[in-house]
Amino acid sequence: MANTVKEPIAPPVSGPIGQVIVWVDARFPLMSLWKGHLAEYYAPKNFNFWYYFGSLAMLVLVMQIVTGIFLTMNYKPDAKYAFASVEYIMRDVHWGWLIRYMHSTGASMFFLVVYLHMMRGLMYGSDRKPRELIWIFGCLIYLTLMAEAFFGYLLPWGQMSYWGAQVIINLFAAVPFIGEDLAVWIRGDYNIGDATLNRFFAFHVIALPLVLLGLVAAHIMALHEVGSNNPDGVDIKKHIDPKTGTPKDGIPFHPYYTVKDVVGVVVFLALFSAIVFFAPEMGGYFLEKPNFVQADPLQTPAHIAPVWYFTPFYAMLRAVPSFFGSAFWGVAVMGAATLILFALPWLDRGKVRSIRYRGPIYKWFLGAFVVSFIILGYLGVVPTTVWGQIPNALPIIGGVDTATVVSRILTAVYFAFFLLMPWYTKIDKELPEPERVTY
Ligand code: HEM
Repeated sequence: MANTVKEPIAPPVSGPIGQVIVWVDARFPLMSLWKGHLAEYYAPKNFNFWYYFGSLAMLVLVMQIVTGIFLTMNYKPDAKYAFASVEYIMRDVHWGWLIRYMHSTGASMFFLVVYLHMMRGLMYGSDRKPRELIWIFGCLIYLTLMAEAFFGYLLPWGQMSYWGAQVIINLFAAVPFIGEDLAVWIRGDYNIGDATLNRFFAFHVIALPLVLLGLVAAHIMALHEVGSNNPDGVDIKKHIDPKTGTPKDGIPFHPYYTVKDVVGVVVFLALFSAIVFFAPEMGGYFLEKPNFVQADPLQTPAHIAPVWYFTPFYAMLRAVPSFFGSAFWGVAVMGAATLILFALPWLDRGKVRSIRYRGPIYKWFLGAFVVSFIILGYLGVVPTTVWGQIPNALPIIGGVDTATVVSRILTAVYFAFFLLMPWYTKIDKELPEPERVTY
């Protein structure tokens, strides 16, 4: 490229700004990026509600980074001062409360948006050939996001920060042979302390955000290499308009989808503001109540539960009985539940991509999977300790409490969705896929 003559591309605006664009474009691929990714990126014209969440995920990512930078200006990553510095941000720093609530609400909304975004993938078969790498980058984003949220949660140094981290780090201790050493290595100490807080801070504010940004760039590059899927799951590149050389069922991303995405952004920000201003704790689901008390290594909270977006996996962990007193199998199941997502494009043997043309078996399995994930999320919040001791706990059946029994069944449903997929997608009675997109 470097020694070839570049054809100049006309800038979208004239006047002095246009001249600046021409100047920059002679030295940087500005116009070709603009054309390739926006003005001449042809997206299927039948995008629907489910296609809002990719751009919303980008919005929340940017919001988290910006609010995070401002929080870091007043936060102190020191076990002695961390809790007080958050109180200081909330009470004394100008607009500190707003920045902090935007960041804490943003964390939950990030997961909500990403879960809906992944749901779209499952509905329309967006993970299928040729989009496997988009899906894999997405799965890596999801894992990184979980790590990012986990590291961030220790920073306010509240009771749940401390004891939540204690539970999760102790899970690593369940790994055979190296577990104990691994846990010490992660903590940087024999107990969670200042060393742990410092390294979690480093991961939360710089290492993982960089990884996330890199992965999101790779995600979009992979998407723009093969083109977007759509609610019909049909390939729009099969029907090219001979006059224009563009897909007959495609429209330029800009201005059509930039304008559509603005609608999503406005609705999202209205909901987001309602939460930030009227219910930032969300009844203890976004900010857990014990976290308003400073971390006390000598005082275990009565009930330890992670934030809602982790609870489906936490319920799976608790559902697995400990063999020979080791939590290893629970940890293995929990790990497998996230890693199995990577295999999805190869487990699916269906001929059609979209749920619109799938047979009834896929619909039932997907429905059961979603319902089990939501109920597991609920069960991960309720205490499974002896009924009667803790209010709101579910009753016991035959020595094992109901929450555990139900969690076991639902964990099996969760895995059945994936493991039986090669079989049920093959025998399912699918409808014929249309040639062109429908409305
Ligand atoms: C920071 C998090 C993420 C961001 C910013 C992001 C961003 C985007 C954007 C902007 C698009 C194109 C617009 C759209 O189709 O909605 C997209 C598409 C896609 N994303 Fe993500 N994404 C994220 C996480 C994920 C995750 C966790 C997965 C799955 C595990 C995933 C899977 C996909 C797939 C399969 C597509 C192609 C969809 C299609 O063409 O139908 N993404 N993503």
